Amino acid sequence: MNVRLYILSALMCCALLTSAVRAEEVHSAEGIITYREKVMDVLKYQSGAIGAILKNKLPYGDDVLVHAKGLQATSRLVAPSFKLKAMKDGGGARAEIWAQWDEYVAAAKVLEEAADRLVAAAETGDTKATAQAMRAVGGSCSSCHKPFRIKHANHRH
Ligand code: HEC
Repeated sequence: MNVRLYILSALMCCALLTSAVRAEEVHSAEGIITYREKVMDVLKYQSGAIGAILKNKLPYGDDVLVHAKGLQATSRLVAPSFKLKAMKDGGGARAEIWAQWDEYVAAAKVLEEAADRLVAAAETGDTKATAQAMRAVGGSCSSCHKPFRIKHANHRH
């Protein structure tokens, strides 16, 4: 092996090592948990925005559809954002998520389908149907939180 090749392969080896270390950092429990909490927060704020428009009868029907589509897109991230197992003391995730992964994915699917129906309702502009579909979305949040989330007294949501 000539010197240049040797240096090149040494460099490549270093680069691989560094990226392995980086991957390790990215996969810190804290980072995994922060990300999935953000996904949940997006759902919370999209639902909250829709609720605020409907409850206050604001003339923002088109906006409801935008939020509904956002919620629909984000619903697809609920299962994937929990793929990596990470828990912490005082955290909100139960070990059952990973022990009963298929049930967890099924619970996420219920939300996905409820979000699909919400978008369909919002597209018609029928406020009553949209409110009803929104309640079903809310029900799907609770039916996953009940078995899979630990709700702490200090959580405000
Ligand atoms: C398939 C299961 C599942 C569904 C569906 C689900 N969640 Fe969650 N959610 C969880 C779990 C598990 C946690 C706890 C995560 C943690 O603390 O690591 C959580 C946490 C949260 C949190 C707290 C996030 C934080 O910052 O600590 C909010 C807010 C939330 N969910 C809102 C919602 C809303 C709104 C919906 C419905 C539109 C929803 N979730 C649907 C499983 C789910």
